[in-house]
Amino acid sequence: MKGSPGRSLTASTEPVGGDQGDRRLEQRRGQDAAARRLLGATGAVRDVELAMTSPPGSALSFRPIHRTDFPLLAQWMSTPHVQKWWREAFEATVLEARYGPVVDGTDRTECFVVELDDGPIGFVQRYLLDDNPEWRRSLLVAGTPTTSAGIDYFIGVETLTGKGLGPVIIDRFLDSTWSRHPEITAVVVNVSAENRQSWRALEKAGFSRIWTGTLVSDDPSDEGLSHVYARHRPDR
Ligand SMILES: CC(C)(COP(=O)(O)OP(=O)(O)OC[C@H]1O[C@@H](n2cnc3c(N)ncnc32)[C@H](O)[C@@H]1OP(=O)(O)O)[C@@H](O)C(=O)NCCC(=O)NCCS
Repeated sequence: MKGSPGRSLTASTEPVGGDQGDRRLEQRRGQDAAARRLLGATGAVRDVELAMTSPPGSALSFRPIHRTDFPLLAQWMSTPHVQKWWREAFEATVLEARYGPVVDGTDRTECFVVELDDGPIGFVQRYLLDDNPEWRRSLLVAGTPTTSAGIDYFIGVETLTGKGLGPVIIDRFLDSTWSRHPEITAVVVNVSAENRQSWRALEKAGFSRIWTGTLVSDDPSDEGLSHVYARHRPDR
């Protein structure tokens, strides 16, 4: 569930050039270096355990989204590597309708910009299934525990994908999710069976596949065969 209120694939951002482009390039180089530090010297660890136990001070953090992040969200959502799997419309009005209530606190979904060395690299959100009864009903077929949270995520900067960062982001996000929601027993994610990069990232972050099938959902991201993954609270 991405919570999409509508669907249109019209890009709403302009190419970045001039000074702004130079700053972005500089920031990107800094983030590549930060990713290498976070993941280990090679910058492409397959051993995620290593990355997850990397020294404190690794510069990964989650910052609640603001309205000023919407243009960046639109830019990320318009990139082919995200759009392929995150089929959410990204015009300003749609983002305002979807994420404005989250910013205002009237929608209990929590959305964060993932930052690496203080620079934005992606997006994560979490929600309680109990707050989304229709989605909870769709997931019943997968045997999902009722007191669960769901998460969704993407790395918006394509050059930072495929390096092992996703599993670290997911694992760290779960750390804060257990304490934020002491009542939940598990976190569940549904992912297209064709999106191997995402379900492998979940497996490397400690999730297990609990079901495979076609979900009843009006979200275009949920079309086709899905895998449902779950990770249970470590202390239960
Ligand atoms: C899904 C995502 C967060 C995963 O994070 P990541 O940092 O790219 O994950 P990893 O680098 O650990 O790669 C995971 C697996 O995908 C494989 N992979 C890497 N690049 C790939 C590619 N272009 N195509 C297919 N698989 C790929 C890796 O080899 C790895 O598998 P392995 O451990 O068996 O070798 C990230 O790729 C992303 O944001 N993708 C776009 C949006 C998206 O799919 N969101 C999830 C919607 S449910």
